[in-house]
Amino acid sequence: MKIGILGFGKMGEALTEGLRNSRDSAQFAIQATTQSQQSAEDAARKLKINCHTQNTKLIQESEVIILCVKPHQAEKILKQHSGDFTSEKLLISICASLTTDLISNWSGKKAAVIRAMPNTPCLIREGMTCLNVGPNAKEAHLKMAEKIFNTVGKTAKVEESLMDGVTGLSGCGPAYIYLIIEALSEAGVKVGLPRKVATLLSAQTLLGAAKMVLKRGEHPAALKDEVTTPAGCTIDGLMALEEGKLRVTLIKAVLAAAKRSQSLRGSS
Ligand SMILES: NC(=O)c1ccc[n+]([C@@H]2O[C@H](COP(=O)([O-])OP(=O)(O)OC[C@H]3O[C@@H](n4cnc5c(N)ncnc54)[C@H](OP(=O)(O)O)[C@@H]3O)[C@@H](O)[C@H]2O)c1
Repeated sequence: MKIGILGFGKMGEALTEGLRNSRDSAQFAIQATTQSQQSAEDAARKLKINCHTQNTKLIQESEVIILCVKPHQAEKILKQHSGDFTSEKLLISICASLTTDLISNWSGKKAAVIRAMPNTPCLIREGMTCLNVGPNAKEAHLKMAEKIFNTVGKTAKVEESLMDGVTGLSGCGPAYIYLIIEALSEAGVKVGLPRKVATLLSAQTLLGAAKMVLKRGEHPAALKDEVTTPAGCTIDGLMALEEGKLRVTLIKAVLAAAKRSQSLRGSS
């Protein structure tokens, strides 16, 4: 599959590295573009990738174009290249906030359009990507998108109206989790653990708990009950978390980021 990463920034790099380090890497031929010559040269040198600044060449030579620029940069670029986005192309936009209708209109309405919201752990093939199908996209296009994003993690198909919420949850979510790991690690230091050990304990505990949820498929509350012995230690820890309003704080974080994603459409 010939893939063009249009906008080789943080997320473009995460996707490319995830695909290139996968078992299926031979199936993907990747080229990428940046805006500045300097960024292209840096990427080409550092990551040994075919990275340049010619978007026309990238679009013409790719079956699948993954648009990875900032949301406010998308309109100008797509309109400039609307003649290149023919009906043979699959255009996957990972831009927060931008709807498939906007992407299709700006790119000339011929290409098949899919919207994706991945996250940075795609870099190590533990990403989470939500997909939704836009104008001209058929089942075969969705399969191609799933092939790409399943290679770098897990995928789910959702209604487009839910994509701002997805952005607030799994798109931005790694940042919330890093904060939680950092806080737990500080707690480890507070109880006397060396920082390196404290960070290992908090990150591995989070990983183990996340895998329990995914593998056992039970409600997280049932798994929490398993850890919580009557009159034991965990219930005291949980009480402190309830007092600190951890749950409602996390819910508010997702809602705030989702609202921001929604508001970006107004300024694009
Ligand atoms: N970061 C995340 O965790 C995340 C998660 C999900 C979705 N997203 C979405 O992914 C997109 C990119 O985010 P990011 O964090 O990766 O941004 P970023 O690091 O700023 O990368 C943007 C890239 O676009 C390039 N670019 C700008 N104009 C261009 C043009 N005319 N032609 C070719 N390339 C151009 C920039 O090149 P220069 O370096 O030369 O300026 C840069 O490499 C955003 O729309 C965001 O909503 C991000």
